[in-house]
Amino acid sequence: MILVTGGAGYIGSHTLLRLMDAGHEPVTVDNLCYGHREAVLDGHFVHADLGDQQALGTLFESFPIEAVVHFAAFCYVGESVTSPDKYFNNNLVNGLNLLNVMLKAGVDKIIFSSSCAVYGEPQEIPIPETHPKNPINPYGLSKHFFEQILAAYNAAYGLKYVSLRYFNAAGADPKGGLGESHHPETHLIPLVLQTALGHRDEVRIFGSSYPTPDGTCVRDYVHVCDLAEAHVLALSYLLSGAESICLNLGTGSGYSVREVIELCQQICQKPIPHRDVEPRPGDPPELVASGDLARQVLKWNPHYSLEEIISTAWNWYQDPKF
Ligand SMILES: NC(=O)c1ccc[n+]([C@@H]2O[C@H](COP(=O)([O-])OP(=O)(O)OC[C@H]3O[C@@H](n4cnc5c(N)ncnc54)[C@H](O)[C@@H]3O)[C@@H](O)[C@H]2O)c1
Repeated sequence: MILVTGGAGYIGSHTLLRLMDAGHEPVTVDNLCYGHREAVLDGHFVHADLGDQQALGTLFESFPIEAVVHFAAFCYVGESVTSPDKYFNNNLVNGLNLLNVMLKAGVDKIIFSSSCAVYGEPQEIPIPETHPKNPINPYGLSKHFFEQILAAYNAAYGLKYVSLRYFNAAGADPKGGLGESHHPETHLIPLVLQTALGHRDEVRIFGSSYPTPDGTCVRDYVHVCDLAEAHVLALSYLLSGAESICLNLGTGSGYSVREVIELCQQICQKPIPHRDVEPRPGDPPELVASGDLARQVLKWNPHYSLEEIISTAWNWYQDPKF
């Protein structure tokens, strides 16, 4: 069985579906601080906090866990700047708690949700995994530190890991049963589509004189189902006895904020109010992954286009289930 931490969240719930399709039996642990119980469409569910050693110990005694897919974390960059204690406690201390309970139970394989935030301001585009790690906020630091903890546990205790550095996750399950439901929402595509639905007044474009073709920030959007697929492949990779590795998960193609808004307007078939405002400190002009290593090592080929990302998300927001 596979333990999925944070399986009631956005990327975790989509991955659970894909794990089940691939024949795995998942157990989700989530404290539901941000997740939705309704998003766990199948498998066992344990309502617990990763900081609760006793609950985690019981969970590992109750289920024959082979490997862990670890999504549970806090992920609001802005909040991490004002409340770093919260981020280091959850993303590091509670994560460390999980690793220690795993080792005690003899479980030595983990897939970790890392982020392109480990790189900080890019020195080259596309960004390879070897790019220097200079995170510029506590959220990115927490992901970078946890990767270093994993490397130390690998060296000392033989813990094997795949750290997956996601770029911008977006989109929804094409069948319509799952989607993104973050409260508060900070991601561009949900904000634009919620504006199209009239749930928000306007989209604010932070910065319009960046050194990019149209002056707005460029990001690498990857469909959540392509991310889910990468986790299934990473699991097979680990279960085959392969070595620990860190991999970018991005498409290698960047789209600007204006391009995203334009495509959303076409898909929703209506104008979406937007306005240029001051840039946010610490927002790099461009973040685009080099995805070559994940393609080589996992044979991962993300196949959803930006148009499909937006259409599946639009489909979800018109009839969200939670
Ligand atoms: N969404 C993105 O674009 C993105 C990009 C890069 C990395 N990531 C990483 O991917 C992971 C999942 O992101 P998401 O967008 O699905 O977030 P999410 O908030 O939707 O999911 C996280 C889940 O973890 C649970 N959780 C948090 N702390 C917990 C704890 N102490 N004990 C038990 N459960 C806990 C929450 O209730 C939630 O269900 C996170 O680690 C995030 O940092 C996300």
